Amino acid sequence: MYRRLLAVAVLVAVSLVAVSGRSEQPNQVAPFMKLKLNHAQTLLEGIALEDFASIEKNAQQLSLLSQDERWQILQTPAYLQYSIEFRRTADELGAAARKHNLDGTALAYVALTLKCVECHKHVRDVRRASLDDLKPIYLGSLLPQGPPAK
Ligand code: HEC
Repeated sequence: MYRRLLAVAVLVAVSLVAVSGRSEQPNQVAPFMKLKLNHAQTLLEGIALEDFASIEKNAQQLSLLSQDERWQILQTPAYLQYSIEFRRTADELGAAARKHNLDGTALAYVALTLKCVECHKHVRDVRRASLDDLKPIYLGSLLPQGPPAK
């Protein structure tokens, strides 16, 4: 009896470890990506309040994030290009802050925001395209009688 209980306990422990190990991957990416939003929001605050030190610091941190390995989600040339442009714009933003050029920081901030949008668009397009590739297989194997009745 005891041995059986022990076996069950070991099984439960092993599967818990397996589950938590598996869920670690996506959980690491999302908080990392969220950092971009935090820095971008703090940047806007800094620009609105003319806090050049804060602008410079947050621009620098965004530039560093783009060099982190967790940033490298896609291997497409376009993703690499967007990453390079993003880093360049963040560096321009930091440089404008160092020169206490408020209009320059505001312009670079807008340019930076466009980079967020462009890259996200690209990521969605790539994912949609790979889903389209899977569709015939998926529909053929799982929905032989057409879509489920509502
Ligand atoms: C070079 C590409 C690229 C750029 C530029 C970029 N992102 Fe992202 N971002 C990504 C990718 C890839 C993901 C999605 C990761 C996933 O879902 O696998 C993401 C996800 C996010 C998320 C969602 C995190 C979550 O909770 O899942 C936020 C928020 C975000 N980005 C904010 C920003 C902001 C703000 C900027 C601009 C300051 C920006 N990103 C610029 C590639 C980029």
